[in-house]
Amino acid sequence: MKLFYTAIAVLLPVATSFSPASISSRTVATSTTAIHAENGVNGSAEKKKVIILGGDGFCGWPTSLYLSDQGHDVVIVDNLSRRKIDLDLGCDSLTPISSPETRVQAWKEVSGKEIKFHNIDVAKEYDLLVQLIKDEKPDSIVHFAEQRAAPYSQKNAKTKRYTVDNNVGGSNNLCCAIIDADVDAHIVHLGTMGVYGYGTSGGEIPEGYIDVTLPGGREANILHPAHPGSVYHATKCMDAILWQFYQKNDQLRITDLHQGIVWGTNTPQTVLDERLINRFDYDGDYGTVLNRFLMQGAMGVPLTVYGTGGQTRGFIHVTDTAKCIELAINNPPATGDRVEIFNQIAETCRVRDVAELVAKLTGVEAKCIPNPRQEAAENELDVSNRKFCSLGLDPVTLDAEDGLFSEVTAIVTKYKSRCDPKMILPASFWNKARAEECADLDPSSIKLKDDVKDKVEP
Ligand SMILES: NC(=O)c1ccc[n+]([C@@H]2O[C@H](COP(=O)([O-])OP(=O)(O)OC[C@H]3O[C@@H](n4cnc5c(N)ncnc54)[C@H](O)[C@@H]3O)[C@@H](O)[C@H]2O)c1
Repeated sequence: MKLFYTAIAVLLPVATSFSPASISSRTVATSTTAIHAENGVNGSAEKKKVIILGGDGFCGWPTSLYLSDQGHDVVIVDNLSRRKIDLDLGCDSLTPISSPETRVQAWKEVSGKEIKFHNIDVAKEYDLLVQLIKDEKPDSIVHFAEQRAAPYSQKNAKTKRYTVDNNVGGSNNLCCAIIDADVDAHIVHLGTMGVYGYGTSGGEIPEGYIDVTLPGGREANILHPAHPGSVYHATKCMDAILWQFYQKNDQLRITDLHQGIVWGTNTPQTVLDERLINRFDYDGDYGTVLNRFLMQGAMGVPLTVYGTGGQTRGFIHVTDTAKCIELAINNPPATGDRVEIFNQIAETCRVRDVAELVAKLTGVEAKCIPNPRQEAAENELDVSNRKFCSLGLDPVTLDAEDGLFSEVTAIVTKYKSRCDPKMILPASFWNKARAEECADLDPSSIKLKDDVKDKVEP
């Protein structure tokens, strides 16, 4: 095996006058939509009963606390499968997360507010799900409860099958359960920007639906074509078809949020007590790109950029995820309305620019390694996010001046003794050709900088 950092390192093409501001190609609201702008950020008078499926996860936990803090009545459902996957992968959240029971107890102590927790498998324990919906009669059900890592979904046949069964089965169960429970609950589902594909589409990606000219010159507005780039993304496309069917057939009220990559760790609620800390994934399967780079920066090992780093992605901070969910539950479609679709992103930027931002911040160099993913080496991404902006969302961006980026860096630095830097390398490959190209990646060659070594190694 070759030493991967020395053998395959290709220095990134670095812009000499890089400034963090240049990474942002944020799309700005220019028009309003049909949704009710009076229910915008902090604009809701009505407090809701909300079930959060997947409320123990990276997005679900801070969202549960945020909604509870805003006065909504929150019930969490989670089967803790994400924690079990950590055990299988021999990895753990960088931050020491408490058990769900400890988390909700801590929240009660600091806020005086109660959040109920139920350990239910949404994909397998159908009767329990129906009973819960009957008992709680929620106004909204936020659906985060899916296997969410594209690399994990591509690891092997077992993880591919699990991802499809869990994600599509869970979404179908949710629709059936709402119908069986006979409760008019609004579904708010977390989709992904990846349903649109990461090719260059040649124009702005609209929010869910696109105007087309059909053969014969007929004009139509249809669901945007699905272009999944992994089994995980394919499940989100299948979810989208299920939403269309159940809206049409049973008049379910559904909002699908096509979210970008979420960055950040803590929120104003999770910092109130150490027991409320949010999870932080840094491993090659679950760590999202910015969090992986920050981890590598803190560990003093090169930031591993896949391919040329020319992939453009959408990003959103975890505090804005929570705000968007509240906007969605406060602005449900009416019965009979088509599935509402929002693009839930703050900005788009290229992976190599994110790497450069982190390199500048940490003094650690960025290096290109072979790409484990089957994807376009370079793509443009121009995405509309007008709907959320028109509801009052003013999203945090990577170059924000209020220190959110430094907050993540501080977390990473604080807990780096819990990090195994070898886990940051890619561990799943999209196909045989990608696996062969990556065969020279050798985790044992990772060398910590001397000053980091003293602090990390026992
Ligand atoms: N994190 C991101 O960058 C990102 C980006 C776009 C979309 N999303 C979507 O947001 C949602 C939440 O993502 P996350 O980052 O919080 O993931 P996560 O894995 O941290 O959280 C998902 C939670 O759902 C639970 N869960 C999974 N299957 C379940 C089942 N069958 N029954 C009950 N609970 C189940 C898990 O235990 C976990 O706690 C996912 O649907 C994901 O696809 C996330």
